[in-house]
Amino acid sequence: MTKEKRVIYFDNNATTAVDPEVFEEMRPYLTGLYGNPSSIHNFGGQVAFAVEKARAQVADLLGVKSVDSKGHHSEIIFTSCGTESDNAALFSAMFTCPKKNKFVVSKVEHPAVLNVAKELERRGCRVSYVPVDSRGRIDLQRLEEMVDEETAMVSIMWANNEIGNLYPVEEIAAIAHKYGALFHTDAVQAVGKVPVDMDNSAIDMLSISGHKLHAPKGVGILYVRRGQRFRPFMIGGHQENGRRGGTENVAGIVAMGKAAELAKAGLEHENTVVRALRDRLEKGIVDQVPTIRVNGDLEHRLPNTTSISFEFIEGESILMLMDQLGICASSGSACTTGSLEPSHVLRAMGLPYTAAHGTIRFSLSRYNTEEEVDFVVEHLPPIIARLRHISPYWKK
Ligand SMILES: Cc1ncc(COP(=O)(O)O)c(C=O)c1O
Repeated sequence: MTKEKRVIYFDNNATTAVDPEVFEEMRPYLTGLYGNPSSIHNFGGQVAFAVEKARAQVADLLGVKSVDSKGHHSEIIFTSCGTESDNAALFSAMFTCPKKNKFVVSKVEHPAVLNVAKELERRGCRVSYVPVDSRGRIDLQRLEEMVDEETAMVSIMWANNEIGNLYPVEEIAAIAHKYGALFHTDAVQAVGKVPVDMDNSAIDMLSISGHKLHAPKGVGILYVRRGQRFRPFMIGGHQENGRRGGTENVAGIVAMGKAAELAKAGLEHENTVVRALRDRLEKGIVDQVPTIRVNGDLEHRLPNTTSISFEFIEGESILMLMDQLGICASSGSACTTGSLEPSHVLRAMGLPYTAAHGTIRFSLSRYNTEEEVDFVVEHLPPIIARLRHISPYWKK
């Protein structure tokens, strides 16, 4: 067996560790309790019961109290990931609003929305891409100018995965509704970090991903407000009330339920302890390293995220040298790592190439410690100095 190297994990917006309590909760459904929740026999029935318990736990995290005639929280649909939830929301709007062929999304959406928007364009829809300013903020007046009676759906993320910006989703939902459009939000990075109260919200659809909140990969949620028309793109059996065909990933769903329960209990910790760790890391770096910038809307951002541009050096080189010390972070979003293009988010903000290329995202979780933060604050400045020393762009 290989010995695991010490890892200092500051890449929690890419994925998170499965919480041991979550793992224990799902374990029986990977071993003895393998029944199909759709089966008539009691062996499957026990599993169906576990799926409904998980649905109730997720509903509780989202502030959804109402149940359907069967006593189920059917506004919660289990999917396979955040990407599927985003796809399901946008395609449903295309299917159910055939007379409206316009969509409005921001330029800083995750590819799970942006690339669906491009696909909708290929299928004949019109899409408007809302710009952002140099801090990644959306001008609501600009957004409103793009929405009209032809708009089927406005989809704007709640929290940005790269810079952590939080967007005013309730205000945006109100704008969408003023023109009769649906409002969907990709809340993959927001849920578990900011309070959510769907019973008192104007949001029509909302996406979540399990692996961003200490559940395993392979499970997601799409919330669809009761009474809202919904047509799935995933057609199959009657699972999820006919809204998402396919035998359920029961273990993942049970894990998601437990992770939701823990996320609700941990919300305050996230906004106090994790926030303080993020601030300590950010300040430690800013105080020691010259010519850097902290990206995003510093007043309205996730408590766990900081995006820092180290000008005149390559983010990939910083990542490689940090990796040798066991420090995991990310340049741009994990999905774009490997591509030489700077991230679409930083480009939309108009960051100069010299800064965009040297941008590192640190994203923390409840598992990080002060000791880990101090280790990075001690070891990162010499790495930056070393790389700048050999950079042809850095004025020595
Ligand atoms: C904002 C946002 N939306 C969607 C996704 C996609 O989620 P998943 O990996 O579960 O498909 C991610 C993942 O990074 C994300 O950060």
